[in-house]
Amino acid sequence: MKQLKFYVMTDPHFFDTASGCSGKEYEDFMHYEQKCFAETESINKSVFEFLKKADEADIVLIAGDLAFNGEKKSHEGFLKLLYDLKSSGKKIYVVTADHDFKWKREDTFAFGENGRYSPEHTERNELLTMYRDFGFGDAIAFDEEHLSYVAQLSDDVRLMALNCDLKKDGKHYFFDEQLEWIKEQAKKAQEDNQTIVAMCHYPILPGQPLFSLISPILIRDAYKFATFLADNGIHIIFTGHMHNQSINELVTEKGNKLYDITTGSVIADPAFIRHVSVLDEKTIDIKSIPTPDFEWDTDDCKKYLSDMFDRMIINIITDMRDDTERAMRKLGIKDKGITKKVLRIAGKFICKVKVGTLARLLFIKCDNSIKNMRALDYATDLVRGVFEGNQSYTEGTPKGDVWINLLKRINFILKRIDVKGWDGKKADLYHILKHTAGNYEIDDYNAILTIADGSRTPYA
Ligand SMILES: [Fe+2]
Ligand SMILES: [Fe+2]
Repeated sequence: MKQLKFYVMTDPHFFDTASGCSGKEYEDFMHYEQKCFAETESINKSVFEFLKKADEADIVLIAGDLAFNGEKKSHEGFLKLLYDLKSSGKKIYVVTADHDFKWKREDTFAFGENGRYSPEHTERNELLTMYRDFGFGDAIAFDEEHLSYVAQLSDDVRLMALNCDLKKDGKHYFFDEQLEWIKEQAKKAQEDNQTIVAMCHYPILPGQPLFSLISPILIRDAYKFATFLADNGIHIIFTGHMHNQSINELVTEKGNKLYDITTGSVIADPAFIRHVSVLDEKTIDIKSIPTPDFEWDTDDCKKYLSDMFDRMIINIITDMRDDTERAMRKLGIKDKGITKKVLRIAGKFICKVKVGTLARLLFIKCDNSIKNMRALDYATDLVRGVFEGNQSYTEGTPKGDVWINLLKRINFILKRIDVKGWDGKKADLYHILKHTAGNYEIDDYNAILTIADGSRTPYA
């Protein structure tokens, strides 16, 4: 087959600046935000300028959350960028997601001269017309109800753009008719000797092991659906939504693989896009490219984004100490009794203590190089790593050894906590926490994936 190359980006969350994004209420909102808001127009412009000039591929996949939060004006601004890129010769395929529409106007927000207000929203049924020129119109199969489609990317590669933006009991899901449709389309593609590349906004495999325990993160019956995809010949899917960078693999009982390549949002740390090469029927080469610098009042755009991430974590932890109820609202914790007290004490402790002191209290060895690091900075760095991928808190590193020894110290408690993993089996919390802070498996940025046979690819 002929090689095929394309770019993947996700979660552009374009916001129309003129709709309003400044003032006291805006600052309050941004207190706990990981992603940019006022900056999104500028960031997207620089990403699209880059893509216009990028000559390694002429196809771009965009995996949803196109608008900031369903504002009509934001879609209009984003569509201008899409048409401009299209006129430069690129073919663009999008899926939409639940930040792209709202059921009612009150669910949108912006911050104008008179404070917070709701700009005009976008209805879900408007998205098809709006984005007809970016995937839907080119489809060889299309389902108007769930806004999923199949498109031919080249003679040998077929895209399945899957949408599960609707929710049941608070979770995104694929309904039964949709599963039948996916099965039928996958079968057809295989009969036509096509390599299938899928795209969906919502991750199918947990981006990091800990995400598998946080219920709202995954779609309903994610393990079952992942198995369904792999066993029906869909072995690779590009996703977004979590604003994290990861590559994960599932091997089903039948020996079929599914790779989920989750890419970070272009408007939040870690801001990357992917360059993908389908080398042959079974080999896909994934590379990551940092998003280009954007026009803003900063000398270092990358640092600007990672500082924004850090500020969110630091604000949550310091608010646990200083404004516990505000932090609880952010964390979705309602109980105001003992939990509030525990959170305040934990906040005070993390803000005050150094890593060396913490290690001494727990009889853990700690390398001199990190003894004077604040526990607050250690925690922030660890959490950022979970989203950035290729997490560095691994065995044999000063920070990783403290983490692993701490887990060993508390393992007698972890073992007693009876929680089920996403596959329905008892979760091994020690393993989950170790592998969430340290990446021991596939490189989350650059990897060559073997998709067609059932055998595992060897990784270093
Ligand atoms: Fe998003
Ligand atoms: Fe999302």
